[in-house]
Amino acid sequence: MSDRVDANIETNVSAHAYRTDAAALAPTLRRVRAWRDRMSQPERDDWAAFLAAQVPSNRVAYGIFDEAFREALPGARVLDFGAGRCALAAIMAMHDARVLAVDISESTEAIAAHLAGELGLEDRLEGRSGDVRHLDLEAETFDFVIGGNVLHHLVQELEAEILELFARILKPTGRCRFVEPCENWALLDALKDRCFPEKEPHPERPNDTDHYRSVGERYFRSVSIEPYGSLERLARLVPGGPANGPLRARLLEAERVLPRAIHHRLAGSQRIEYRDPRRS
Ligand SMILES: C[S@@+](CC[C@H](N)C(=O)[O-])C[C@H]1O[C@@H](n2cnc3c(N)ncnc32)[C@H](O)[C@@H]1O
Repeated sequence: MSDRVDANIETNVSAHAYRTDAAALAPTLRRVRAWRDRMSQPERDDWAAFLAAQVPSNRVAYGIFDEAFREALPGARVLDFGAGRCALAAIMAMHDARVLAVDISESTEAIAAHLAGELGLEDRLEGRSGDVRHLDLEAETFDFVIGGNVLHHLVQELEAEILELFARILKPTGRCRFVEPCENWALLDALKDRCFPEKEPHPERPNDTDHYRSVGERYFRSVSIEPYGSLERLARLVPGGPANGPLRARLLEAERVLPRAIHHRLAGSQRIEYRDPRRS
């Protein structure tokens, strides 16, 4: 393992030592229970606003849980890579997927076990702490690998190695779906870093759409990337804006009519989908 990869892993382990007691996990549980309540009201037609209001997930839920994805979940085997506090993993298990939540954080197993116990998901949600490259995952066994804001935490050589592994463990029909920050305009990103300094450590690396396309194409024959959150990012400038789902959903809808070049440069996130794994 290179020194850079070792150092990157160590940084991520120490930066993500989540608390695992019931009080610390209460907000995550509340969020997952609110999702269960929403699932029990199929007559409502406000999924877009509900997904857009999912803070603090930074547009992750909106990017991952579109209708087609929700419908594909029952019975699917899913790896949630970089699961963090396991909210997305628990939500996918509530949609009847069989979910393995993996994170370099030492807290993941305890968090997943706590959520599974509280939500009655013991048969569908499992957490593993550690390096996904050493978990001995079987080839061609997963329908989905998902990741919310995780790849940009990895140095590039580790990212490439892990994507190669995902191409191996996915079924031929399987796919990866990631949401990552979108940095397609250096000037805007420098301004953003000044106004909203990063709380977490991140390696120096590209996070533009071209990067995620070219690294994905090494291991997958089909790559599609959709930048979004160009107008929507303005919601954080409005009091109460981040939690205002209807406002954020309207902005996400409105931004679709922007000229593509402008929309892509201003976008704050990108949904990355890799399909048709290349076998090495
Ligand atoms: C910003 S958090 C996102 C958590 C979660 N996906 C979400 O959307 O709420 C990034 C996560 O990536 C994890 N991570 C960083 N490097 C990793 C690695 N090498 N393997 C697995 N997880 C890693 C961190 O521990 C952290 O929990």
